[in-house]
Amino acid sequence: AASDSKTLDIDPRKLVIERTGKPKALKDSKDLVFGANFTDHMLTIEWDKSTGWHEPRITPYQNLSLDPATCVFHYAFECFEGMKAYKDKAGKIRLFRPDKNMERFNKSAARIALPTFGPTNLIDLIAKFAKLESRFIPEERGYSLYLRPTMIGTQKTLGVGPPGSALLYVIASPVGPYYPTGFKAVSLEATDYAVRAWPGGVGDKKLGANYAPCIVPQREAMSRGFQQNLWLFGEEEYVTEVGTMNFFVVIRNKETGQKELITAPLDGTILEGVTRDSVLSLAKEKLAPEGWKVVERKYTMPELAQAAEEGRLIEAFGSGTAAIVSPVRSISWKGKVVNCGLKDHEESGETTMKMKQWMESRQYGDEEHEWSYVC
Ligand code: COI
Repeated sequence: AASDSKTLDIDPRKLVIERTGKPKALKDSKDLVFGANFTDHMLTIEWDKSTGWHEPRITPYQNLSLDPATCVFHYAFECFEGMKAYKDKAGKIRLFRPDKNMERFNKSAARIALPTFGPTNLIDLIAKFAKLESRFIPEERGYSLYLRPTMIGTQKTLGVGPPGSALLYVIASPVGPYYPTGFKAVSLEATDYAVRAWPGGVGDKKLGANYAPCIVPQREAMSRGFQQNLWLFGEEEYVTEVGTMNFFVVIRNKETGQKELITAPLDGTILEGVTRDSVLSLAKEKLAPEGWKVVERKYTMPELAQAAEEGRLIEAFGSGTAAIVSPVRSISWKGKVVNCGLKDHEESGETTMKMKQWMESRQYGDEEHEWSYVC
């Protein structure tokens, strides 16, 4: 699966480790802010089109030095991943479904003419890196080491073309629970004046360029008192994603009375979330036997509004690596408030809460499962 059969794939056996002489002081875990602090080291692997991947290096965390003409700065040759390493009760370090992240990383890279790599080779290196940074991983539930694999085009040129050189690097940030004060349901504003992704576009890839244009609509929603925006698509007002997360709803079927867990299908406009996939798997495993239907299909804002009016919209939540699941209270749409099934005093629905627990049990290795990769 290397980028080019004539050039070299990533080779974990060639790893060179240069340890820091200045280990950082550990932050109190309760003071951790998402993505604000980084560990002692970073993993870097350079690539060029004639040799392929160079030897992997773990070095002290440091600045990059890049020519101002480097193509990443001009044409956005950048893609990334978000994944986490957890410490289990025995002190072992575990990654959660790293194969899914590597698969998506390769797809993102290929879409923007960056090199690909053998997935197990990078997992091996990330595991070594996470183990080396073990002291930064808090043991408490809700805490983990957020890993940020990143790939950039590094060729120095303003010419628009495939980068002849690239840099893959992984940095790591100790993180705490997304909601330090416990689960808090968020209120959303449906965005109809901007679109996040479109058919034939790159919304299903984890490209940095997909994220910058989301900030203004997000800030707009915030200025009107909503925590996040809900991305709609098209005249039909299809519901797609929430902020930077996938979106799920629980609806009671009008005809059958059956509970349905619904999320938008992977039609090219939806990010292939690892948590999204895990929620679907868990639902098929644990809810379907109780009579639930688990469906990936298009659904619209008018459909949600009608279900809410008829008391059939039971729950809504976002899913992502950072927060796992994020309960939703309401959606403001066309001057109306669509209530997503929570009572005023409730901060999460039952299914949202269960999903979080089922997921964490596999992430922290309480339940031994193939999703958990022991480093
Ligand atoms: C997520 O995990 O939900 C994200 O999309 C993370 C974000 C920091 C890019």
